[in-house]
Amino acid sequence: MLDVSPLWPADLDHIRLDTPSPRALARFYEQAMGMASAALGDGSYLVHGRQRRLVIGVGTARANPYNAFALADRAQLDGYRRFVAARGVALEPAPTPLFEDDAFAARDPDGRLAVFGCPKPGFADVTPAEGPAAPLPGRLQHVVVASARFPDIMAFYRDALGFLVSDIVHTGKADGPPGDTNVCFLRANLEHHSFAAFRAPAAASDHHAYETTGWGDLKLWADHFATLAVPLWWGPGRHGAGNNLFFMVRDPDGNNLEISAELEHLARGQPGKPWPAGGRAINLWGTVWNRDVAAP
Ligand SMILES: [Fe+2]
Repeated sequence: MLDVSPLWPADLDHIRLDTPSPRALARFYEQAMGMASAALGDGSYLVHGRQRRLVIGVGTARANPYNAFALADRAQLDGYRRFVAARGVALEPAPTPLFEDDAFAARDPDGRLAVFGCPKPGFADVTPAEGPAAPLPGRLQHVVVASARFPDIMAFYRDALGFLVSDIVHTGKADGPPGDTNVCFLRANLEHHSFAAFRAPAAASDHHAYETTGWGDLKLWADHFATLAVPLWWGPGRHGAGNNLFFMVRDPDGNNLEISAELEHLARGQPGKPWPAGGRAINLWGTVWNRDVAAP
């Protein structure tokens, strides 16, 4: 396992979600997440707001064809491209219009693209968002996938792409030997995770998260969602892995959005923790969302 990586530092910049009706889903993000929409000319929309942006494209509901990570500068990107290519990964053109032309992508074992590049400055200046949620803090911070090929996904993001492992969850009991790893949290900067994977019966997008400035922001967001009759379906709670406060809501397609605060920081070489089965890694306060039907 790496304790240094040329991917460091990299931040989640944007994700793409597909839907049969991009305009309708974009409208949800405008109202619920305080974002503005811009048509990208191919039927897709950029939805963007305060420290948050997504591409909403035409496709199967809940598909997540790519997740895009921004590196610090071109020199880092060049070195990182060599690092990934040296691990035998086939590099593909970046599908996003939001990064400069030298961005590239790598296809994970479930067919999803991980995209790496430097943001194009022009896209930061589109029409400002309006509405009650526009000023609320919520930086797009992590994205999570579920996979039936979990060991392959974990190995790909760790070994081929150079994400550092923070905490893992395994299927063993606290007083027994560790079992199979079934959740892995990975990072490319000080924040505990910008990507994570859960073992699950089928490949799927799991959730994406917006990091706020503190517990009080969760109240502001929950009150805002209440005005739109968008219910909290999980939480509030505190994840054991990452130690962040959270709740989750769903968009009309069923994509899970997490509002988060107090996400743990880990230094570059700092090891994470292994968590036993039992659910405390997932929620210290209450109910657990278990994605792994095979887990005891
Ligand atoms: Fe999360």
